[in-house]
Amino acid sequence: MTEPIPCQRHLFDLPDEVAYLNCAYMSPILKRAAEVGAEAIGRKLQPWRIHAEDFFTGSERARTLFGDLLGSDADAIALVPAASYGLAIAAVNLPVAPGRRILVLAEQFPSNVYTWRALAAQRGAAVVTVERAEDDDWTRAVLARLDERVAIAALPHCHWIDGGLLDLAAIGARCREVGSALVVDATQSLGALPLDLAAVRPDYLVCPGYKWLLGPYSLGYLYVAPGHRDGRPLEHNWIARRGSEDFARLIDYRDDYQEGARRFDVGERSNFALVPVGIVGLEQLLAWGADRIAATLAAKTTAIAERAAAFGIRASPVHLRAGHYLGLRLPDGARQGLPERLAERRVYVSLRGDSLRVTPHLYNREEDVDRLFEVLRAVL
Ligand SMILES: Cc1ncc(COP(=O)(O)O)c(C=O)c1O
Repeated sequence: MTEPIPCQRHLFDLPDEVAYLNCAYMSPILKRAAEVGAEAIGRKLQPWRIHAEDFFTGSERARTLFGDLLGSDADAIALVPAASYGLAIAAVNLPVAPGRRILVLAEQFPSNVYTWRALAAQRGAAVVTVERAEDDDWTRAVLARLDERVAIAALPHCHWIDGGLLDLAAIGARCREVGSALVVDATQSLGALPLDLAAVRPDYLVCPGYKWLLGPYSLGYLYVAPGHRDGRPLEHNWIARRGSEDFARLIDYRDDYQEGARRFDVGERSNFALVPVGIVGLEQLLAWGADRIAATLAAKTTAIAERAAAFGIRASPVHLRAGHYLGLRLPDGARQGLPERLAERRVYVSLRGDSLRVTPHLYNREEDVDRLFEVLRAVL
């Protein structure tokens, strides 16, 4: 049995009266990350304190830490500002012949839908939406549509609305059988739900840092599989080219790139203010350990789901949802006045579709959950 991680609220700046159960919206950063960030932004007051090597060291550290979390080396990782940016890199580089299909889930997050609609329109392909199965089994629903017509399966590890889980190892194996690429949006999973990279073998995997990676907004990561690292970047910035460490020779223009996936880095990826903040979050996650985080959060959501069940509120069955993520299906009428009551009691959750999305983290106390149920009791 994995030992649960005790409450880590002291590391965060959450006032007593706040019940923040909304990590899937945006995580708080650690207090230490805010200190590091203040120091980092302060360096721009005195730019002579930013040295040539600083253009490389921070971003390399972030790349390495994200790789450690994912189980890959740093060469596989590019720094990107958003999921949409990473997905756009996948879209310009993956072959899709006219008439082929791109698979997405019903109600999938828009960045991971619009990208593929645009690509399908450009290449004469079709976006095919996998409908939610009656029994919430997304894996079976995806496998049923995953055949030789599919060129790209663009999928999350769990559904952003209610945490519905996909068995990406089984889906990855099927992708390879039918000759489809697999693009994973791990925004709502990595950091809280471990992924077995060697079993899934995605072609690309994207993960912004501001949710489960406890990082800042506008700093994220793209994993690029070995076979795609000679692809086309979205833009052509100086630092991605080989030899960019030598500032005196930048105008000896070169066609070759830095090692691995670095060619895909967003321009100004050195991001002196935000990269140090992202590093603190990643270091803390690695110190806690991915498996322990996952087990601790799973225990929290299971306890909430059990309590909800006593009120007749349903969630996806436990084996079909990601442990860290809960979508409570509210009965008709229960949403009436709910946002106002939640705000009154300073309970922070999200309403997405007909689901009340409850996503705790290690800073949550029993008392936060009690407060949520006080509100639910009042509206049911
Ligand atoms: C599943 C998923 N993907 C991606 C994003 C963010 O996308 P982007 O970084 O393109 O803004 C979110 C934000 O809620 C999300 O839930």
